[in-house]
Amino acid sequence: MSISYEDKSKTFILETKESGYQMRIAEFGYIEHLYYGKKITGTLSHERRRLKRSFVCNPNEAERDRVFTLDTLQQEYPMEGVSDFRAGAIRSRNADGSCAIDLRYKSHTIYHGKYELQGLPAAYGENFDTLELLLEDAVLNVEVTLLYGVNEETNTITRAAKIKNNGAKAIVLEKVMSLCLELESADYDLLSFYGHWTGERKVERKPVRHGRCVMESRRGVSGHHYNPTAILAGQNTDETKGTCFGFAFVYSGNFSFSAEVDSIGQTRFLMGMEEGNFRFVLEKGETFTAPEVLMIYSSEGLGKLSHDFHKLIRNCICRGNYKNSRRPVLINNWEATKMDFDEEKLYAIAERAAGMGVELFVMDDGWFGRRDDDYSSLGDWKADKRKFPNGLKPFVEKINRLPMQFGIWVEPEMVNEDSDLYRKHPKWCLHIPERKPARGRYQLVLDLSRKEVRDYIYASMKALLESANITYVKWDMNRAVTDVWSGAFPAERMGEIAHRYVLGLYEILERLIQQFPQVLWEGCCSGGGRFDAGMLYYMPQIWCSDNTDAIARAEIQYGTSFFYPVSTIGAHVSVCPNQQTGRTVDIDTRAAVAYYGTFGYELDLREIEEEETDKVKKQISFFKAYYDVLMYGDYYRLQLTNDNGESQAWCTVGRNRSCAVLCYLQKFSRSNAAFQKVYIRGLKEDAYYRIQNNGKIFSGSALQNAGITMPVYYEDNKAVVWVLEECEKNGD
Ligand code: DGJ
Repeated sequence: MSISYEDKSKTFILETKESGYQMRIAEFGYIEHLYYGKKITGTLSHERRRLKRSFVCNPNEAERDRVFTLDTLQQEYPMEGVSDFRAGAIRSRNADGSCAIDLRYKSHTIYHGKYELQGLPAAYGENFDTLELLLEDAVLNVEVTLLYGVNEETNTITRAAKIKNNGAKAIVLEKVMSLCLELESADYDLLSFYGHWTGERKVERKPVRHGRCVMESRRGVSGHHYNPTAILAGQNTDETKGTCFGFAFVYSGNFSFSAEVDSIGQTRFLMGMEEGNFRFVLEKGETFTAPEVLMIYSSEGLGKLSHDFHKLIRNCICRGNYKNSRRPVLINNWEATKMDFDEEKLYAIAERAAGMGVELFVMDDGWFGRRDDDYSSLGDWKADKRKFPNGLKPFVEKINRLPMQFGIWVEPEMVNEDSDLYRKHPKWCLHIPERKPARGRYQLVLDLSRKEVRDYIYASMKALLESANITYVKWDMNRAVTDVWSGAFPAERMGEIAHRYVLGLYEILERLIQQFPQVLWEGCCSGGGRFDAGMLYYMPQIWCSDNTDAIARAEIQYGTSFFYPVSTIGAHVSVCPNQQTGRTVDIDTRAAVAYYGTFGYELDLREIEEEETDKVKKQISFFKAYYDVLMYGDYYRLQLTNDNGESQAWCTVGRNRSCAVLCYLQKFSRSNAAFQKVYIRGLKEDAYYRIQNNGKIFSGSALQNAGITMPVYYEDNKAVVWVLEECEKNGD
C-alpha cells in the first residue's frame, strides 16, 4: 500500500517509487501540509513550523496561544474567510451572506484502487491507492472530501475534491480549487504554456515572486491561450537534473492556476476552476465534484517529469481500442480542398493515397447540409446530396474497397443560424434573453447543459456512425463559448452553466465512445485549442495545431511534449508553400517533424513531384516500421552544443533502449557554420549503436557524453532523421 497513516503523530504518508508526500492533522483539526519531494524515510512528525507572529489572527479555540495561525500555515486545502489571507482553495457564500468556510478533520479512509469522479474524466487503473480525507464545517454542515490517488509506477499523486452540503440552507460555491500545493521556499520558476491559434503551447519560464501570478481560461474551453498545465521547477533545473513539480488539469473548460509567494517566502500553487465566472449553488444534499489534477514530482529534471506524464496519460488517461493498437496512417482532405469537393474529387485523392500506403481517408468539413462555406449547415448532420447523390454509404464502400478505412469530420457542439436545426430550435443555442449572441466563425454554441440538446447530438452522431462504415471521427470545435446563459436553469444557477456545458460534452462523448468502440476519435478545437488531459480520456489523440508548417510545428510539438505523449499529438505532412506561414520546406523535413505525432498527410498527393512520390512511400514504411519506438518510446528534448535556437533536436528511445529515432532540425544556415553536436539520452551506456544512415558505430556512453556531430546543411529549415540500432562493437 502506497498510503499509510501514523496514528501517534496523525501523519499521512503517500509514497510513489521516487517521491514522498506528507501531511498531518494539526492543531484544532486543520490539515497541515508537511512535505512533497524526493522519497524520504520516516515521518516529519517532529517538524514544527510555528512562531509567534504579531498582526496575524489565531483561531478562536487557540485562546491565549498566539502561535498557531492560518496566516502562514502550509495547508492542504486552505479556506477563504477564516484568517488566511492568501488566495485559498475554496470560498463559500452562505445563506446569511457571510463568506467563510472552516473545515476540520472528521475522518479518513485508505483503500486499494482508484476513486472515480461521477461524470468527469479521471486517471484510472488497478495500480492506484486512494486516500479520502473527510473534512467538515460544523456550522454550515458542509463536508469536503479531499481525494488523493497514488500511482507508484509513474510517481503520480492525483488530487480532486467533493463538496457536499448537508445543511438545511443552500450555499454558493464561489471558488473551488482541486489542488493546493505549498512549498517551503520561493526558489522556483513557473513554466507555463501560452499561445494562440496556430501557435499553441509556447514555453514561458519565469521566477515566482511575491504576490500572485494567475493564468486561466474564460473561453469555455481550455483554450489556445494557456494550457491547463504548469511546472514549478528549481531555478537550476533543466532537462536532465533538478527538482520539478508538474500539474495537469483533467478538464476541458474554464480553469485557473496560480503561484503566490507569501510574506515569509513560501510558495502556494493552486489549480482548479476559473473563479471569475463560476458560481455553483449547493442545495441541501447536493454535491459538487471538482475535477482532477495530475501531479508528478521529479528530482531528475524536466525530461524525467515528461516521461512520467507520458506514461500516465498513455496508460491511465487514454482509453479504448486505440490505446495500444497501431493507428492507421491517414490522409485528410482539408488543406487540399477546403469545402470545395464532391465524391469524385475525394475519391481521386483517396485512391492516389491508398496506392502509396495510406490506410485511412478522412473527409473533413464541407460534406453535410449545404455547406460550401462557414456560414451554414452546422447542426444538420446529413450528407449533402449535391456532393453525395447516393448518400455516404456507397461512397464509403468504394473507399473501403481501395482498401482504405473511412473517417469523417464533425463539429456537433455548434449550430449555424442558416441550418434546419436552428430554424427548428432557435433557443437551443447559448444566448442571453433580449441580447443577440456573439458569433464566432459565424456560428453559435449549442447549450449542452440542456438534456434535449445532448440527446439530439448523440442521436445525430449515432445515426451518422451507423449510416456507413466509419471508423474514425475528428470532433472539432471552432469558437469560444460566450453568452453563457441557459433557459433550462433558474437565474441563480447561471454561474454553473459553463461547467454544465463541459459535463454535458463529457456525457455525450462517454455515450458515443461506449456505443462505437471501433471508432478512433481525434479531438480538435481550431487546431490545439482544447488539448488537455480531460479530452484525452475520451479521444486518444488531438489535432495539435492548425499550423502544419514543419518549422512552426517543431516549436509547437516541443511545448506540447512537456506533458503530452507523442501518441496523442495529431501531426500531418501538408502542402508547400505552407498555407499558414507561406514557407517551403522539403517533404522529408515535413515528414521528419510529423513522425513524432499520429502521422498522416494533408495534401493532394496527386500534385506532388515524381521524386516525392517515392519519398512518401518510404516515409509511410518508415513510420510503420518504427511505430513502437516513435509512439511508445521515451521522448527526449535534446541538448545541442551551440544552443542558439537556430537548431533543434529530439529523439525517442524504444522501451528496451536498443533503438532510438533521432531528429535534428537545422533552421538557419550559416556560412562557415559552427559544428552542432547533439547529446543523445536514454541509451545504454555500455552498449554499441549503429547509425543506420551512415553505418558508423558508437557506444551509448559516447553518444550521450561526447555527443554526435550533425551534418551542416547549406539551406534553411532542413531536418534529418537518424535511426540508432544496438549492435555488436565491430558490426552486428
Ligand atoms: C479547424 C480544424 O482545426 C481544421 O483542421 C479543419 O478541420 C477546420 N476546422 C474545418 O472547418
